[in-house]
Amino acid sequence: MNYLVTGGAGFIGANFVKYMLKKYEDINIVVLDKLTYAGNLGTIGEELKDSRVSFVKGDICNKELVENIFMNNDIDYVVNFAAESHVDRSIEDPGIFLKTNILGTQILMDVAKAHWTISKDEKGYPVYKDGKKFLQVSTDEVYGTLERDIPEGQSLVDNGQLTVENGLSLEELKDLFKNREAMPKVFGNKFFTEEKGLDPRSPYATSKTGADMLVRAYNETYHFPVNVTRCSNNYGPYHFPEKLIPLIIKNILEGKNLPVYGDGKQVRDWLYVEDHCKGIDMVINGGRLGEAYNIGGFNEEQNINIVKLTIDTVRKLVVDNGELKVKDQYKNVVKCPLEKINYDLITHVQDRLGHDARYAIDPAKTVKELGFYPETPFTVGIEKTIKWYLDNQEWVNEVVSGDYQKYYNEMYGKK
Ligand code: NAD
Ligand code: DAU
Repeated sequence: MNYLVTGGAGFIGANFVKYMLKKYEDINIVVLDKLTYAGNLGTIGEELKDSRVSFVKGDICNKELVENIFMNNDIDYVVNFAAESHVDRSIEDPGIFLKTNILGTQILMDVAKAHWTISKDEKGYPVYKDGKKFLQVSTDEVYGTLERDIPEGQSLVDNGQLTVENGLSLEELKDLFKNREAMPKVFGNKFFTEEKGLDPRSPYATSKTGADMLVRAYNETYHFPVNVTRCSNNYGPYHFPEKLIPLIIKNILEGKNLPVYGDGKQVRDWLYVEDHCKGIDMVINGGRLGEAYNIGGFNEEQNINIVKLTIDTVRKLVVDNGELKVKDQYKNVVKCPLEKINYDLITHVQDRLGHDARYAIDPAKTVKELGFYPETPFTVGIEKTIKWYLDNQEWVNEVVSGDYQKYYNEMYGKK
């Protein structure tokens, strides 16, 4: 199978390329990436040595370039990760978000449509070559925000009872979390389902919604073969340190303040990036054409608790047998004195404008139709992630060598 993976040098796109190369022998991947501040060739350095992978540096908005890729490769699947992805940047400057995220998606679809069309049916709809698919990587932020009506959270299953209604039965939920020590917490009665109307709040979320709706429009209007995935917050290796978890890890190691927006009680639903990649693969291979699928599920936590758990886990991983000493292997990585790695590093700063209160995915459709389940418990995923950052400081130094410091000063200096 021949894949065009756009944004494959970014966080999730790169993890997807790695996942697919490991899983499938018979696969060819063209990576198209503009290498913005968020994209880094070093992230897929090993993969670029693989004869199954080729790389094109360029913009998804460049129609001629995309045409060339389709002319030179018999692309079966397009997986569109390419996007401007950071909410805070979209609040500062929305323009590029609308261009890349909406118009870029349109250009990719137009070129794929032209190359995949073989004829027209009697009603005038295009007829496509068999087995082609365009997968749009959308986000749960298109659904807007949910009430945090259980402010401190409660177990989803308590005393053998479901505490709030969702799309899965008690038995299905137990099956989903068979490898978990404890049932997850929820912070509200409602969840995002694929039926919920889209109701984005930030310029970023609105640009992703524009793309999401355009993909649907191409399916309705041209019968263009598509799927949309809407995933919750990812975390894991190669996450750019402008997003909460990698930024917190980086700052802890440097002994810098940990900026928590507002009271830190906003809730996100965290998913280990490899589980997202698994979900996308399932949708490519089993998703019904024209359908949207939620990926994520019941791993809600308040930001403040994520930050505290990250501090605790960094400490646990770097300390030498409980002695007040950093392990030798991390001596050059941990620049913060060990006794200062504690909650005093937390600094509440000005809240994000229009900050969404709670995201919570109900993945029932994807679970029931495709057998998806979120495999990695947060406690396991966060340890793997922090360990990866401790062991890959070269990567961190490389990705922050550009304008990162300027961005950081501008974004946090005024908060
Ligand atoms: P990222 O910012 O880490 O990576 C984006 C990649 O796209 C970068 O490599 C960048 O160079 C590339 N890119 C940007 N503009 C481009 C353009 N015009 N042409 C070609 N390449 C371009 O983002 P990410 O976190 O990996 O997210 C990937 C996708 O998944 C995005 O579409 C995002 O909306 C979606 N998503 C992200 C999350 C999350 O938690 N990070 C959750 C759900 C969905
Ligand atoms: O839900 C999926 C979305 O998750 C994706 O579509 C986006 O591309 C991705 O960036 C992410 O958006 P968020 O805004 O939720 O992620 P971020 O890591 O920026 O912030 C997570 C939460 O932490 C959010 O409530 C804001 C808060 N935060 C963030 C930063 C960077 C802080 O409190 N301090 C910070 O410094």
